[in-house]
Amino acid sequence: MGFIDIHTHIVPDVDDGAKTFDESLNRIRYLKSMGIDTIIATPHKRTNLFEFKSDKIRQNFNLLNDRIIENNLDVRIYLGCEYYFGPDLFEDINNGSVYTIGNSKYILVEFPTFRFGNSDKESLFRIFTSGYKIIVAHIERHRYSLESFYTLEYLRDNSALFQCDIMSLGGLWGEQTRLFMEDLLKKGFVDIISTDTHCKEFEEELLRISFDRLKEIYGGDVRERFMGEIIKKRLSLL
Ligand SMILES: [Fe+2]
Repeated sequence: MGFIDIHTHIVPDVDDGAKTFDESLNRIRYLKSMGIDTIIATPHKRTNLFEFKSDKIRQNFNLLNDRIIENNLDVRIYLGCEYYFGPDLFEDINNGSVYTIGNSKYILVEFPTFRFGNSDKESLFRIFTSGYKIIVAHIERHRYSLESFYTLEYLRDNSALFQCDIMSLGGLWGEQTRLFMEDLLKKGFVDIISTDTHCKEFEEELLRISFDRLKEIYGGDVRERFMGEIIKKRLSLL
């Protein structure tokens, strides 16, 4: 059984990820060579930074899927979203138009990088009581907001899952982030590991280095533990 990558910027020309269909397809071939057979495309949705053009996203997603089939890549791709914790997310929840991950009630949410204000606490609670659950995107990059008021335990008690970017382990976001991710791994606070690929050329080498590092820390086939059947089940994809 193949592995799943739940966080990718692989739909071309819709955010800061892939620019062309060829870039997307090259990265999909690479992911496939790593044993990944299921990909969730998660374009950014964040007011004032990434305009989320639903029609264009859906169109390019469908065209990409056609190319995957034409090229016999044998990879399943689903459309999701990486929400920034802000108005777009709350609006979609209120309208019942949320892009979830796979066939589940999980939403991929990027937390603020620095402070997590008091009013956010209420918003977070609203999500927890909305019927949706959250996957915290690259939690290793949010050490400061973690220190501001909530704890990993509080999030976990409210059914949150924690996703880490594999390339953080290879040093993409600096030494502090790398060490924090190692710490989260050792303490059992990592549920899912993904590539968060933006389809840049340098990523292939970094992905290889990062997976090697993960193997060193964990031993065995780490892909099964963090990208395997258990994750597909949680996302209702099996
Ligand atoms: Fe991302």
